[in-house]
Amino acid sequence: MDYRGKALLSFCTIAVSLASAVAFAADAPLLRAVTWLENEPSAQLEALGKKVVVAPRTAAETDTRWAVGRAIFQTPILLGGQAAKAGISCESCHSGGTANPHFRFPGMSSAPGTADVTHSFFSKLRGNSTFDPVPIPDLTKTGKVSHEGQALEEFIRGLIVEEFGGLEPDGATLDALAFYVRGLRDAEKRPSKMLTVDEPLSNINSAVSLGKSAARAGQFGAAKLLLASARHQLGLIHERYAGSRLARHRKALSDAAQSLGQIQNQLDEQPERVSSALLRWDKLFYTKQKALRRDEGKSLYNPDLLKNLLDKQEL
Ligand code: HEC
Repeated sequence: MDYRGKALLSFCTIAVSLASAVAFAADAPLLRAVTWLENEPSAQLEALGKKVVVAPRTAAETDTRWAVGRAIFQTPILLGGQAAKAGISCESCHSGGTANPHFRFPGMSSAPGTADVTHSFFSKLRGNSTFDPVPIPDLTKTGKVSHEGQALEEFIRGLIVEEFGGLEPDGATLDALAFYVRGLRDAEKRPSKMLTVDEPLSNINSAVSLGKSAARAGQFGAAKLLLASARHQLGLIHERYAGSRLARHRKALSDAAQSLGQIQNQLDEQPERVSSALLRWDKLFYTKQKALRRDEGKSLYNPDLLKNLLDKQEL
């Protein structure tokens, strides 16, 4: 069996369900993202301690599809198989819509910043099974996939369903993802900011409020992904509030993720109740946010603590 075949076999042995979207390991010292970053502490510090900020084009600024697309872009469960299991989303490879130079996933990458994602997408046409990773492109620049007509939507659908084995995205989801990619503003220099807990917290608030609107509009597929997106962000905070003195925050985060999961399930059974359930959830989480902000300095959002961890860990 060739290298790729073996990699695929191990992809298939891992079952992924919506329930595993938020897997909290008790006191796990390592950040999951380390598994798909190159093996170099300074590169990891840059990838995990900073965020790339890409502003939307003016025409996209006021359209909710931009924010919906951005949230779903950051949601691993959109992709299936090994990627979702590892916590990989579109964002992991295309940080903020650009290219992540530090991405390196065993079985998918050769040099840092490369990935073999087109293999099975094109394999039906080409019929070969070569391992040929290519540099991850910056989506703010015009690439080889046309943004005209439906070419972008078709490409993204192919990535999700055929390459990553994700569920068929509904129209609203695909529309928002393509809108987000088209709306990324091209610029030579990007500001890169320190990553603080404000980032996931504002992502959570935004995803929950967009999820509410999507549910009201009857877009249940997109609503589920938006709530999954918020749960994923809760998981990211959970990882960074490590150690016994932050245990109560982790408990609060797990509880919040769990109740959000229950609301997510209600989308199937009692969608008319989702809006008011989310309002209640929002109120409860508001007080938790304040407590999280107060203890941010003790968490791995503190760059010194993050650096210590990355320097010390054995890879
Ligand atoms: C494992 C890393 C990885 C993930 C995850 C990933 N991509 Fe990509 N993406 C790539 C690579 C590598 C290419 C270049 C493929 C090529 O050139 O053949 C690419 C190409 C693209 C392109 C075409 C750019 C062009 O040249 O015109 C788009 C659009 C895109 N990705 C969007 C997405 C979206 C949306 C998601 C999530 C559904 C996603 N990608 C997930 C690595 C990734």
